[in-house]
This record gives sequence, structure tokens and C-alpha cells, in this order.
Amino acid sequence: MSKLEGKVAVVTGASKGIGAAIAKALAKNGAAVVVNYASSKAGADAVVDTITAAGGRAVAVRADVSQAAQARDLVEAAVQQFGRLDVLVNNSGVYEFAAIEEVTEEHYRRIFDVNVLGVLLATQAAAKHLGEGGSIINISSAVTDALTPTTAVYTGTKGALNAISGVLANELAPRKIRVNVVSPGYVVTEGTHTAGIAGSEMEAGFVAQTPLGRSGQPDDIAGVVAFLASDDARWVTGEVINASGGVR
Ligand SMILES: NC(=O)c1ccc[n+]([C@@H]2O[C@H](COP(=O)([O-])OP(=O)(O)OC[C@H]3O[C@@H](n4cnc5c(N)ncnc54)[C@H](OP(=O)(O)O)[C@@H]3O)[C@@H](O)[C@H]2O)c1
Repeated sequence: MSKLEGKVAVVTGASKGIGAAIAKALAKNGAAVVVNYASSKAGADAVVDTITAAGGRAVAVRADVSQAAQARDLVEAAVQQFGRLDVLVNNSGVYEFAAIEEVTEEHYRRIFDVNVLGVLLATQAAAKHLGEGGSIINISSAVTDALTPTTAVYTGTKGALNAISGVLANELAPRKIRVNVVSPGYVVTEGTHTAGIAGSEMEAGFVAQTPLGRSGQPDDIAGVVAFLASDDARWVTGEVINASGGVR
């Protein structure tokens, strides 16, 4: 039996990049998956098509996770479509870098709203439906250790996410719901292309600092998430797992 057979998962920000790979990996392991997107309907539909063509179950649902009503509707869609909820992957995230002189309130609010408030809202909505064996996986970043200049706001969101995840691991443990963090190092995605990182000197710097000596790929992250979603990880909670080729 596939290790996620019978489970239902919501993956936020699954229209592209790391989230798309996670949605496909969970489905490959037997989960029915809600593929969330904010603006890229075509990307989400393509992920759903890939999953259904392979015999899996998935639906695309639009929601801005930083809006409470939309985060709630996203989780309700999973229950309506598939009858239950077992796994929430909080992957949606935005990144944009700025030297301290360039940081604006708008920059701060945009990044914190998606990367931190969005996680709180989706988790709040999901916690109502998760039962014993439920698993929440939050996608953070190795930036919390790297402390790279010009990333104060983004790194701040991921530091907050790590702390929030630890709190929620303790808070939800009495209900036997696990909460863990996966921290990728640099991963080549649509987002890193848009941000101008892919192919840049910054990327070369990341690779040079990576013991395993290459850029990460979305599938490098997805397998770790599938493990944490499964009952193989039933004794693992409150952990931050680096999936970073050895960067710490
Ligand atoms: N790539 C890296 O090197 C790296 C390294 C460490 C950590 N991470 C983290 O990994 C996660 C994914 O990164 P990525 O590189 O795969 O990003 P990406 O390619 O830019 O994709 C981001 C995803 O987040 C979604 N999203 C953005 N705002 C949203 C909102 N308000 N509500 C719901 N979804 C929203 C996007 O949806 P639409 O496209 O539909 O708008 C998209 O599906 C992020 O949390 C990021 O911080 C990435």
C-alpha cells in the first residue's frame, strides 16, 4: 500500500516550484491533493492534470492564504471534495530582497502577510478538521542560518515561521497532530528565475557554499515532505529538517 493512501492533503502555493513538486509527490504516494494557487490557474491545472493522468486524485483551488476567508474556503474545499483532511503543507511564500535602507512598510507587510499570517490562517482553518495522525509541514528556508545581507525581512518571516511551528507542535501534540518544518537551501524554481537569482552570481555563491555541490531541485524537497506527511514520521514532531545539500 502507498504510504499516503486514504489521506487528503492541502498544499498551498502548488501551482509551481517546490509546491507543485510536493503536490505531485504526495499524490504519487496515494494522497488526494488540493492544489492551491493564488494567480497561476494554468500552473495549478497542469499539476492537477499530471496527477490525474497518473491515476491520482487532485483539484485546483484558488485562494490567497493571507486572507482569512479564502484560507478557510481552501481548507473547506478539501473536506467538501474528499471528505476529510490529514495533511497541510504551508508552502506558499514570497521572497524579495532589499538592503535595510530600501525596506518599506509595503515590502514588510507583503512578505509577512503571505509567509507568516498566511501560515497562521491556513493552519487555524485546518486545525478544525485535522485529527489524530494529522501532519502539518511548514516550508521555511536555510536563510535562517545563512543570515544573508539584504534578506532581513524575508529571513525574519522564516525565523518567525520556525518559532511558530515549534509552538504549534507543542500546542497540537495533545491532539496527536504533528507539526514540522522543512528548510530548503537554494532551489531552482519559477520564483528564483523571476527574482533574478537563477543564473546570477548569487546562485553561484549559493552553490559554492553547498557541500553537495549543486543547486537544489523541487523534487529534492518533495520527498522529505512526503515522509513527514506519512505515518513513517509518526514519532517526529517539532523538528526543523534542512533539505539543503548540507548547507546549515
Ligand atoms: N526556491 C528557493 O530557493 C527556496 C529556498 C528556501 C525556501 N523556499 C520557500 O519555498 C516556498 C516555495 O518557493 P518557490 O521558490 O517554489 O516559489 P515560487 O516558484 O515563486 O512559487 C510560489 C508559490 O506560492 C504561491 N503564492 C504566492 N502568494 C500566495 C498567496 N498570497 N496565497 C497563496 N499562494 C501564494 C504562488 O501562487 P501563484 O503563482 O498562483 O500566484 C506559487 O504557487 C516558499 O515558501 C519559499 O520561501 C524557497
